[in-house]
Amino acid sequence: MTVIDAGPVGEFRIAPSILSADFGNLGYDVERIDAETDWLHVDVMDGHFVPNVSIGPPVVASLRRYSSRFFDCHLMMSEPGRYLEAFARSGANGCTVHVEVGGTAQLIEDARALGLRVGLAANPDTPFHAVAPFLGDIDLLLLMTVFPGFGGQSFMAEVMEKVEEARREVDRNSLALDIEVDGGIDVATAPIAVRAGANVLVAGSAIFAREDPLAAAAALRAAAVSALT
Ligand code: DX5
Ligand code: ZN
Repeated sequence: MTVIDAGPVGEFRIAPSILSADFGNLGYDVERIDAETDWLHVDVMDGHFVPNVSIGPPVVASLRRYSSRFFDCHLMMSEPGRYLEAFARSGANGCTVHVEVGGTAQLIEDARALGLRVGLAANPDTPFHAVAPFLGDIDLLLLMTVFPGFGGQSFMAEVMEKVEEARREVDRNSLALDIEVDGGIDVATAPIAVRAGANVLVAGSAIFAREDPLAAAAALRAAAVSALT
């Protein structure tokens, strides 16, 4: 497995989602935004947990030739446990599984045993108490700000209460945990998410669907950083 450090926990990061990139030119798209990329967010959809299919381990392996960034793989899958090893072997650095699929403690243990950084995701309507018992065992909490399945949806501001709750819990217990938001993040919504306590921002269409993705990523970073000061 490629060992790539995620960097210090809790630090601000931009994680472009390749879901909105040109899949016919993925290597090029990933390379051209590299200067404004901290992590690369890889959206994996199985057509079962979400009503869409995207990509799998072979694409992750190919992408490795074009990027040395931390690959933050978001597994929107009903049975992520069947694929963790394949992702680890393909060059994934972190894998995030959804709490809604169940078997969470085992999945965390399995991902950890594979040397992966471990994330746990919650859909917008999944309450904080569903993920709370696992916070001490994971590296990243992904709070979805859209219902997963498609890029280009609108940011759900109502999720910010959950982000605030998570940030309070992380700070109160000095947990080594990143809080990531994913869905509808753009220059207008990024500051809202950062103020609520998110430190990793995933953005797909706000970067790759723009005419100049590198400039769009830089603008997103600037907007988010301005909320920190
Ligand atoms: C949602 C995916 C997201 C999404 C982000 O199903 O997990 O990563 O593609 O796309 P935007 O930024 O366009 O909402
Ligand atoms: Zn995602």
